[in-house]
Amino acid sequence: MKKVLITRKLLRSNEDRISKIWDANLNLKDEVYSQKKLIELSQGCDGILTSLTEKIDEGVVQELSESVKIISNFAVGFGNIDLEATKKRNIVVTNTPDVLTDATAEIAMLLILGAARRASEGLLYAKNKNWKWSADFLIGKQLQGSRLGILGMGRIGRAVAKLAKAFGMEIHYHNRSKLNSDLEMGAIYHSSIKSLFSVSDILSINCPATKETKNIINKETLEYFPPGAIITNSARGDMIDDEALVQALINRKIYSVGLDVYNGEPNLYSGYLNQPNVFILPHLGSATKKTRTAMADLAISNIEEFFKTGNCRNKVN
Ligand code: GLV
Repeated sequence: MKKVLITRKLLRSNEDRISKIWDANLNLKDEVYSQKKLIELSQGCDGILTSLTEKIDEGVVQELSESVKIISNFAVGFGNIDLEATKKRNIVVTNTPDVLTDATAEIAMLLILGAARRASEGLLYAKNKNWKWSADFLIGKQLQGSRLGILGMGRIGRAVAKLAKAFGMEIHYHNRSKLNSDLEMGAIYHSSIKSLFSVSDILSINCPATKETKNIINKETLEYFPPGAIITNSARGDMIDDEALVQALINRKIYSVGLDVYNGEPNLYSGYLNQPNVFILPHLGSATKKTRTAMADLAISNIEEFFKTGNCRNKVN
């Protein structure tokens, strides 16, 4: 029987499946393992099922047990794993695309709505019972008729576009290359981020975290936006220079911000805490029972396929 380390607690039905097929080291207490502990626990394992909370950098990859042949990440993003280092060691890395597209796009819309309609402020007023209706109370921005810029028109970006269209938004996007018109669904392509940002009343960040996209929202690029733009991020915190964004909120260049992901999770950059116009969630993009179950099923199947065939459809390195 193959031995597999599961780094975080999964939903019950997924753990039941795992226990039937492998000699599994489950993490029933859901401890967040240090890199040292992860290396220790990898001894004798054929594979590891990781989550985005484990940073599998070059140092860790070098120290993992020789027996480890696959790392199956329980996420579509894989910025937590050093792909070059795994490739050098001949360790296959896989991810869980598609199954979380709709859930993540729904959270992207929640961020857009929450930031545009001042949901954080509204919640506080409602809970504190200290508000009264008036014609100009908590006036927000309307989605209908506004321009949504999508940075990264992959599967999730396209799902956001589809939902946003139903809200009457005009969709613009930037990608490394222009999509075929059937995938574009009427969205307008911009070959540069400057061009995209300059028409984005609202931006939805849906691109992967790479060297190229790190801090793509920074002091300089924030200047490209129309005054009073809204920035939302449902991808990874890496794309935002937090200090620059908070400054743009203070200067009112940026109207509001919606974040489901941020640098240094779970520790939110303190500058956001004093800003009323931020709508922040704790990385809930894929957090529905249906999606988390499907993601874990796929992460398990990726390992099974690899053990059976030596390859895997969802290999990313
Ligand atoms: C979630 O953030 C994922 O990348 O799957």
